[in-house]
Amino acid sequence: MKILRSTILHTPRNAFRHADALAAYSDGALAVDNGRIVACADYAEVRAAHPDADVEDLRGGYILPGFIDTHVHFPQVRILGGLGYSLLDWLDQLTLPEEARLADSAYSSTIAREFTRALAAHGTTTALVFGSHFGDATASLLETANTRGLRVFAGIVLSDRKLRPELHQTAEAAYRDSKTLIQQFGADRYVVTPRFALSASEAILDVCQTLVGEHPGVRFTTHINESPNEIAEVARLFPWADDYLGVYERFNLVGPRSLLAHNIHASASELARLSLRGASVSHCPCSNAALGSGILPMRRHVEANVRVSLGSDVGGGTGFGILKEGLQAYLMQRLAAEPMTLAPAQMLYLATRAGAEALEIDDETGDFAPGKSADFVYLQAPENSVLAGVLGRLEDPERILAALFTMAGTESIKEVRVGDRDILH
Ligand code: GUN
Ligand code: ZN
Repeated sequence: MKILRSTILHTPRNAFRHADALAAYSDGALAVDNGRIVACADYAEVRAAHPDADVEDLRGGYILPGFIDTHVHFPQVRILGGLGYSLLDWLDQLTLPEEARLADSAYSSTIAREFTRALAAHGTTTALVFGSHFGDATASLLETANTRGLRVFAGIVLSDRKLRPELHQTAEAAYRDSKTLIQQFGADRYVVTPRFALSASEAILDVCQTLVGEHPGVRFTTHINESPNEIAEVARLFPWADDYLGVYERFNLVGPRSLLAHNIHASASELARLSLRGASVSHCPCSNAALGSGILPMRRHVEANVRVSLGSDVGGGTGFGILKEGLQAYLMQRLAAEPMTLAPAQMLYLATRAGAEALEIDDETGDFAPGKSADFVYLQAPENSVLAGVLGRLEDPERILAALFTMAGTESIKEVRVGDRDILH
């Protein structure tokens, strides 16, 4: 048993429903045994209950639950920074040519290492990852994540039209290759992933329905309602659907284990149906701004009871930082047509527990409740940095969180753990 002594902040409750969602201990202790949380409370209390435990003194920094990225693309690490495009041009000119390069297994192994290292360096301990169109590359991602100790959920990206021929699969190959990876890595880590309705014919969506039906443990992810041109084209391709969500609903792909990315231009009916089905939305605010896709109507999502978590959407986004996504969500919501001012506790919830709930792993991670896996980030501002100066005079936990979301980057992330694994070094 070990006690980590530090300032500790986490959200054991939904911060959109509970005013007291934030739990904060300025002189706190996280007691950990075999990678599991035994206690999280004030240091004096935990020390008294466990007088023989070793103590690691981490005062001067902050322990937060590991960040959870619910939408990030593995093959897009090396196209980060490609500004100046809208979604469909960006896919055509920058993204899909790079994704085609992952057919080469030596290259895809290199990218898998770069990608998993980058997640860990940014404090992300769990991620729902859009894999590659190629089975070998996707297997390499899942293997590399397991080796590092990252909690990654991923699957082969499925498409049979509108991209580039090298990225298309037949329905038979899509089914066969997905089954192979489900057998290899387990249904619980596998994610059925049609790229988006634009690039998936009814034959591919039918394969997705079969895979989900045959393996109830798998998760489902895709894109929805991201850009006006995309939405218009989907309406043309699926004339029988009332709206974008209706396409996925027709194939029984919308349920509690479904995470749909973006959903910026959703109708009231779509929001009501997402809520009814318990599906969740991955909000990617840096990507939404960078690609000019739009501003998520978060207030409408919250009021409709739609579950929302955060995604970096690398490489449409601007990097791997989930703190940065929390800040960008805050900035965009101040400017939204129906604005809302996100509280720091809501930003922390979105960055941690909300992701665990969306993935249905909130009994395992997302906050520091006893019994959960000890997935955490230890942040400490670099000496002489502006952030160190700001934090030095703050005691209020909400102010501390706001400063971390505004200013902490990788240089402040000193330790990242998943259970008993150090995934950073
Ligand atoms: N829609 C289809 N593919 C993609 C992608 O790679 N990124 C984003 N942001 N949207 C998409
Ligand atoms: Zn995406």
